Amino acid sequence: MAHCAARMAKLRIQYENGDPERVIEFDPSKAPFGHDGEAGSFLDVILGHGLHLEHACGGNCACTTCHVIVKQGFADLSPAEENEEDLLDRAPGLTSTSRLGCQAVMQKDGEYVIVIPRFTINQS
Ligand code: FES
Repeated sequence: MAHCAARMAKLRIQYENGDPERVIEFDPSKAPFGHDGEAGSFLDVILGHGLHLEHACGGNCACTTCHVIVKQGFADLSPAEENEEDLLDRAPGLTSTSRLGCQAVMQKDGEYVIVIPRFTINQS
């Protein structure tokens, strides 16, 4: 039997400040969804679905305001480049699964879970 080949990924967004969780279902092959950040990145998917994520530098890997903590799907993200690692070192509340939302691209179908930290510092 033929199956519909539509791809589908799910992004679950949790907020450290207690805001209600949001869930976005999207087809990764349709990226980009907006025009900020890497195509298919957390920032791209979030903004493209009408939700908010800080992005003081416009998604150009030059601040840390788009910092997210990845709870699920970390291994399926595009690898961080040196520039991103350097910036993350300055992000408040850095964890071992922290990424910049504008740089980390969800490369596979499946479910991703991220936490938006309570504190971000606007460096721009
Ligand atoms: S928006 Fe500035 S580094 Fe992601």
